[in-house]
Amino acid sequence: MQIIKVNTSTSYEVHIGKGLLESAGEKIAALFPRNRAMIVSDDIVFPLYGEKLTKSLEDAGFACSNFVFENGEERKRISTIEALLEQMAEAHFTRSDIIVALGGGVVGDMAGFAAAIFLRGISYVQVPTTLLAAVDSSVGGKTAVDLSRGKNLCGAFWQPRLVLCDTDTLDTLKEVNVQDGLAEMLKYGVICDRDLFDKVKNYKNNDMEALIARCVEIKRDIVSGDEFDRGQRMLLNLGHTIGHAVEAASEFTLTHGHGVATGLAIIARAAEKKGMARVGMAKEIEDALISCGLPTKTDYDTDMLATLTLSDKKSSGDSISLIIPLEIGNTVIHKVLRTEVKDFIEAGK
Ligand code: GLY
Repeated sequence: MQIIKVNTSTSYEVHIGKGLLESAGEKIAALFPRNRAMIVSDDIVFPLYGEKLTKSLEDAGFACSNFVFENGEERKRISTIEALLEQMAEAHFTRSDIIVALGGGVVGDMAGFAAAIFLRGISYVQVPTTLLAAVDSSVGGKTAVDLSRGKNLCGAFWQPRLVLCDTDTLDTLKEVNVQDGLAEMLKYGVICDRDLFDKVKNYKNNDMEALIARCVEIKRDIVSGDEFDRGQRMLLNLGHTIGHAVEAASEFTLTHGHGVATGLAIIARAAEKKGMARVGMAKEIEDALISCGLPTKTDYDTDMLATLTLSDKKSSGDSISLIIPLEIGNTVIHKVLRTEVKDFIEAGK
């Protein structure tokens, strides 16, 4: 098992290893003895792991309730949060009770947001069950729901008090969801770790627990220096700015990781064509994405992608920050005028 310590406004540990669901109750009880726990999950994950987590928590002295909603991004809405908050209020949850998020990114984002606003903030624990949530959304305290005008438009920074990633839960993932996680893992390699990039590309011959741990360390280092996303944390958006546009163009039929992979390939090719990156870098990134079963191209219209990219919540005033790889392991934040975005997409398509 690996333990990574995160030092943000709230300090916490991320535990990564096999069989952690069995010991989850004991580990959580060490932080919050004998309180009530609301397990938040979805109707795909809860039937798989809900009973095991509930038993572990109850054996450790917790009184457990659960809130299980329908799987999918469509449920990541204020209305779902409202139902969860009402259920907690009805059960007289107090500030010393906790939420435990059991699931992927949608579950973690929503459970975290509910924890941030219930009684003006209660503690929560993340138990990620997807590779994507393990390496990204369960760490760093970004919580949110979607609004009609876009994803994650309503949320808060609220750090978990513990993250428990039981790598056994990754065994039940569909291939597409493994690929989604691999896209984020390659992203970390391109941002700052060539060795990680090479290992993820060849992930079948590498120790997944160690790879996840390295991604979490990188995220920890970036987030500790910029918890509230004003500067270097934007590096984590590598592949996301244009990737979100590709996802939106597909009306979210394309998964997040597949959108990120396409966005990463586009920005890598654009960086090379514009003379910012080493010649040959984009091909290496494309090859790695392909070896992880991920896409590198899109047929969506450039004008549409530019419009969708510019509607990203991270654009401000006349400019937008693009995250540009200069080399595998060296990525920078580059401010461009909004009028230049289309040109980048054109160059990278
Ligand atoms: N997922 C990007 C971040 O946490 O900043």
